[in-house]
Parts: sequence; structure tokens; C-alpha cells
Amino acid sequence: SATFRSQAVLSDTLSSEVAELVEIDWDNLGFGFHPTDYMYVMKCSRDGNYSKGELQRFGNIELSPSAGVLNYGQGLFEGLKAYRKEGGNILLFRPEENAQRMRMGAERMCMPSPSVEQFVEAVKATVLANKRWIPPPGKGSLYIRPLLMGSGAVLGLAPAPEYTFLIYVSPVGNYYKEGIAPINLIVEQELHRATPGGTGGVKTIGNYAAVLKAQSAAKSKGYTDVLYLDCVHKRYLEEVSSCNIFVVKDKVISTPEIKGTILPGITRKSIIDVARSQGFQVEERSVTVDELLDADEVFCTGTAVVVSPVGSITYLGKRVSYGEGGFGAVSQQLYSVLTSLQMGLIEDTMNWTFEL
Ligand code: COI
Repeated sequence: SATFRSQAVLSDTLSSEVAELVEIDWDNLGFGFHPTDYMYVMKCSRDGNYSKGELQRFGNIELSPSAGVLNYGQGLFEGLKAYRKEGGNILLFRPEENAQRMRMGAERMCMPSPSVEQFVEAVKATVLANKRWIPPPGKGSLYIRPLLMGSGAVLGLAPAPEYTFLIYVSPVGNYYKEGIAPINLIVEQELHRATPGGTGGVKTIGNYAAVLKAQSAAKSKGYTDVLYLDCVHKRYLEEVSSCNIFVVKDKVISTPEIKGTILPGITRKSIIDVARSQGFQVEERSVTVDELLDADEVFCTGTAVVVSPVGSITYLGKRVSYGEGGFGAVSQQLYSVLTSLQMGLIEDTMNWTFEL
């Protein structure tokens, strides 16, 4: 059968491919897409049960033009990273958190989701099959992108009759073109990312399409990205297009509380725990836009952006600067502890990493 053949090809090629590193420019990865060797595909039929998934050669996928994901946006994604340690072992960061978040999102989007175990096993298999694409220590990470989509055909509005769970990976470096230099944000006054009762709190693909217009406008004016306000009062901070936001004042760290319109970031949650373990007071609460005016530091968190210091924020035409052009002391400390944990440079007292 096709499956049998592809697995035979796989074991042949796997042994020769995983041995070395691919030859790419590891020093200039940025956050561009590099196709790798394999992707993982698992299908779920109408009955809601996922069949056994398999690794396939990376390539285009076939979808009906009337697939639920293409017509009605029935789709979710996840993002996590694998790091290569000195000595060659591979570390995954909190993969079961992504698995659980996908399950929550799937419930909201009327999709059957893989179990936590299926998700984590699939991530492990995909990373190992693409091992030669994991950057050398200190050069970046392998970004892992699980997708869940309504792949079955529909015409009337309804949940799709079939689902596909797919994982692909790409080696990545820094997300922003600024590298680890501070980014410049503009507070968006008209467009909003999420609404109460909407899907802002889950990682559905449409949330990301919805921010492109404001993000493009901001970029064309020279800003790095957009900071969104709540759509009811236009007064409380929500998040940036692709990451969560934190404000530091007198060593107290505040971030908007999870309330349905904010993406529950795994880096957000990890930074809160790291900060508390380092003796900081952390508050999850409504943070007003006015608090930006006298904050000591502002930083963003996300799997892709890790911890990114904010150098300036422009609101109603007024620009406020932070950190004198560099990483603020608190942001720097949290960045160091988190990334040292993720890369296996310090003991993982949190029990967050998963060694392959
Ligand atoms: C991530 O940080 O992994 C995300 O999912 C954000 C994405 C827009 C790159």
C-alpha cells in the first residue's frame, strides 16, 4: 500500500538524513519559511476519531475547493519550538500546553481535536524526522507549526465532515527584523483584533487575517507592529498582532488578564511564572492605555517573538520611549532565564522541557 511504501522510503532516508545538519545560512534565518523534509498528517473522519497519523514527504496538500477551512475559516494553528542542545540532544518546550490549547480552540470551532498524547507524539515524530533542520545551539530553533482544519467539503454553513491535523516545521531565528533590538509599536485606534464573545481567546486562523490591515498600515509608516485596545471602551490594552504585552512599573509587572479576547500565550504564562520565581510581583488585570505613559519598561511575549523589548509606543500621535534604546533590566532578566531554560543552559526546575 501507499502507506507501507512511504514508511519504507522513510526509514531508508531517515537514517542518512538525520545524521548531519543541512547546509543553510544559520546566521541569517529570520522568521522566513524554509521547507524541510517531512510533515505529519493525521485525518479524522465524520465519527470524530483520528486514524493513525503518518510522516509524509513535505509538500503541497490536496483540498476540495469547498473544504470548510477555505470557505468558512474552520481552522486553528499552534506554534512551539525545538532547540538543539550542545552535545546534540533536542529540547521541546511545554508541548502538552499547545496540545491542550488546541483542544480548547477545537471546542470553540466545532472541530474534533487530537488527544494530548496524539499531539505530543506527532510533534516528537515530526521533529525527529526533520532533525537536520534544527539550528546549531545559539543559532535559533526549529519552529513547529501544527494545524487543525476542516478539510471535508461543505457548501451550506456547517462544521466540515472531515478534519486534518498536520504538522510542518521550519528553522527560525529572530521574529522581528530588529533582531533583539527594541521594537516600535503604534496603538490602533479604529480597528480591533477581538470582540467579547468572539474567538480572540483561541488560536483560530481568522484572528490573524483580521490584523493584517492595521499591521500593514503601521509597517508602511515605519512601526514594527500594532498594539490593540479593547473594542468596548477603547481604553484597555489587549495584545500585539502576534504576541502578548507586559508593562513594568516600579518592578511590578502587569499584563492584561485572560478574558476571552486575549490569546492565552504559553510564553505569557511561562514568563508570569518565571517572574514570580525571580521575586517579582505580577498582576494579571485590566491595564489602561494611560499606564503606558509612565511605565518603566514594556515588552512582548510569544513563541515566535520570545521576549521582545518595546522601545517606543505611539498613541494619539504622541510617542513614549522606554529602555533608552536597549533591553530594560527586568525584560532582560526574564528573557535570560526563560531562554536559558528553553535551551537547556540552566537546570529546568520548572519541569517544562521535554528532551528528545
Ligand atoms: C507564535 O508566536 O508562535 C505565533 O503563533 C504567532 C505567529 C503569528 C507567528
